[in-house]
Amino acid sequence: MILNINTMRKENRISILLIAMLLVAIVPFSTAQDKKLPNIVVLATGGTIAGSGASATGSSYTAGKVRIGEMIDAVPNIRKLANLTGEQTANVGSQDMNVKVWLILANRINELLAKDDVDGIVITHGTDTQEETAFFLNLTVKSDKPVVMVSAMRSASALSADGPLNLYNGVAVAASPESKGKGVVVVINDVILSAHSVKKMLTTPVHAFQAPEHGQLGTANFGQVEYFHNPHGLHTTQSEFSVEGVKELPRVDIIYGCADVSTDLMELMIKAGAKGIVIAGVGDGNINTGTLEAAKRVTAKGTHVVRASRIPIGQVLIHGEVVDTKWGTVASDELSPQKARIVLMLALQKYGNKMSREKLQELLINY
Ligand code: SIN
Repeated sequence: MILNINTMRKENRISILLIAMLLVAIVPFSTAQDKKLPNIVVLATGGTIAGSGASATGSSYTAGKVRIGEMIDAVPNIRKLANLTGEQTANVGSQDMNVKVWLILANRINELLAKDDVDGIVITHGTDTQEETAFFLNLTVKSDKPVVMVSAMRSASALSADGPLNLYNGVAVAASPESKGKGVVVVINDVILSAHSVKKMLTTPVHAFQAPEHGQLGTANFGQVEYFHNPHGLHTTQSEFSVEGVKELPRVDIIYGCADVSTDLMELMIKAGAKGIVIAGVGDGNINTGTLEAAKRVTAKGTHVVRASRIPIGQVLIHGEVVDTKWGTVASDELSPQKARIVLMLALQKYGNKMSREKLQELLINY
């Protein structure tokens, strides 16, 4: 039917004009909120991905300068992948990440993912402690919807900044139905890595992140997502840990093993408030006899001590050169000292220091 506006009554002409004006007002809204696209919330915490420096070719920069809206707007076509909403949870270099922000993040993610109109989460983060935040969230998020962490090795103002493509790929991974049930993943340098297995292996190059024991879960190439494997370890909906209403976690400290390490560290840490200790031991989680004797004393009084290793790749065996039952220790199995610390903090929060050695050992193996 063709309407001739000139032959219409004045009231009808006005109504059509009003409807046309309304449509013009709605169009930008429906482009921004495309019903066919998933709704992804981006939680920004800072890091080099949000970093800026005076020179594009200099190595010096300050992390956590660029805010989330600016970061999203800098990525071409990112809004074609998903409807994006940004929230600035923190804006720090991840060397300043802390348990307080972890608890805020976990609780906010659980709140968001409980909504029918939120399909996934992307977290922007510094690379230095990214694997710890990923692992903490892997154990405390209560949803099988995608949760993806992205970061960058080069600041936003650097020549060949890697952040924009990592963010683009991270959103593509969060928008992919294939990412459901994979736990928290890290997307960087075109690969998808599980929170359980991801490790920062190199200090500065863009291929710093690897999963040396289990390999990458998949790839994300200019938004094309492909998975090859499922993650190791229990995660998210399978996890027994919850941080709902939790305001702090018990303090757990790490002793770094080396030749002639001071043997009074463990008791000094406990005196300062530590409720559990992780040893980043040498080799297969070994440590000098003086520190093992300290472990025997403190475990007898109820403080848990976990043996992990300062070596980046491989397992710490139960009853290796160190016989754990003799010293009261447990072994971290596949977990790095910093990830074993997270299991111990959550376990102490849930079960208290009356938890048996056997229970703690089981948790370290399961997660
Ligand atoms: C940081 O972890 O915040 C600084 C280093 C980085 O993001 O690459």
